[in-house]
Amino acid sequence: MYICICNGITDKEIKEAVANGATQLSDLQMNLGVATCCGKCADAACSFLPNPEPIPLVANNQVQILKSK
Ligand code: FES
Repeated sequence: MYICICNGITDKEIKEAVANGATQLSDLQMNLGVATCCGKCADAACSFLPNPEPIPLVANNQVQILKSK
């Protein structure tokens, strides 16, 4: 089943990454690219981790622009 639609990453790939030592969302982001586009899959990807870290508000490759008045 696809977990990350943006990057075409399946639950099997995430489970393999966890079996190979991934422990945080950042590990999955670096190893697979999961949750590096829109970030909507971050919660689902974290559900495979033994100790999920808090979900980032902004995906790693996104820039949040704050307007000043
Ligand atoms: S669905 Fe994974 S980054 Fe968009």
